[in-house]
Amino acid sequence: MFPRGGTGCVGGAVPTIPGIVLSMERLDRIIEVDKENLMVVAEAGATLEKMLKEVEEADLLFPPHPGDEGAQLGGLVVCNAGGTRAVKYGVVRNYVKGLEVVMPTGEIVTMGGKLLKNNTGLDLMHLMIDSEGILGIVTKVIFRLYPCFAASATLIVSFDDRHSAIKAVPKILQTGVIPLALEYVERDVIQISADHLGKRWPAEKGMAHLIVIVTGSNEDDVYSQAATVIKVCEGLNAVDTLMADTREEQANILKIRSELYPALKPQVADVLDMAVPPAEIANFLDVLDDISQKYQTRIITYGHAGDGNIHPHIPLELYERGVLNDVKHDIYVEAARMGGTITAEHGVGKIRKAELPLCLDDKSLELMQGIRKLFDPNDILNPGTALP
Ligand code: LAC
Ligand code: ZN
Repeated sequence: MFPRGGTGCVGGAVPTIPGIVLSMERLDRIIEVDKENLMVVAEAGATLEKMLKEVEEADLLFPPHPGDEGAQLGGLVVCNAGGTRAVKYGVVRNYVKGLEVVMPTGEIVTMGGKLLKNNTGLDLMHLMIDSEGILGIVTKVIFRLYPCFAASATLIVSFDDRHSAIKAVPKILQTGVIPLALEYVERDVIQISADHLGKRWPAEKGMAHLIVIVTGSNEDDVYSQAATVIKVCEGLNAVDTLMADTREEQANILKIRSELYPALKPQVADVLDMAVPPAEIANFLDVLDDISQKYQTRIITYGHAGDGNIHPHIPLELYERGVLNDVKHDIYVEAARMGGTITAEHGVGKIRKAELPLCLDDKSLELMQGIRKLFDPNDILNPGTALP
């Protein structure tokens, strides 16, 4: 049985053998926005877009923001979605407080609740998070909410080279300013997304750009955080800084960043999703250049620099040349060598299973297989996904 969402990048919801495809899309009620407890209760087939609308109408905030608002809530949970806002607020895992789950053996199990502290027994709910549909079917979720932030500003800080840009990332975080988002993009690449949308990317100088979004309790708070970030970057060879403070300008920048992958997708065979220790990003990008050179291609890369999470895009022509898996393997090996992981936020799905041993030892894999067997003794849920 294949639970079907469909906004993932790793084939997690793609049925690969004959079976039943389970659509969740009619289980789509937002049951309750609970202002007193700062929680939302919803059915798992509701989309993020639908939930955000009701949460925002109640003047509240669901802090994480995985790019595709068409994603269903159950999918957000079982993929532990990430996105741009994870620097300040963390990934979806941090917001899941309760789940209703239908087990592959038919029982309905409630995990957690409207609780901020809960130490009863082993934490099955956190096992469900990032389980990629192999342990059970999530039918209801309870997420924690926060009050909205009062003000925000978006900076684009330009550097002439990537090492200067990436060096600024830990220095920004060391000031104590925790940005909502801290993204790395290269100017000629972000231009592709701007062109695709018919928009203008506002920063014209430098080749390596950091997008820094700061939020706060009022405008003064935000300007003072922005000033701190600008001062640090200016001391680290930034060549220009642009600050957007209107809602419209900021939305424009975020939109161009968010549409990068859709803009590149027609030319891309696979979007990789590595995490390396954040201070290693620039070295990792250099390694990607070496690999690009080896295969005589360009591997476009950008990512969530504040999280050490980068997305190298493998061009379609490498698939056509029959070397897709070789290139990917080379990149995975280098990421693992730097203490990194082969997936930070997209998951393993069906297409990253073979490389898991690069990051997980035999005992860990054995324990994971054992847990899977315990939850799903008949091997009926999302076969061929997440584990070798
Ligand atoms: C992004 C997707 C690819 O960061 O995760 O745009
Ligand atoms: Zn991403």
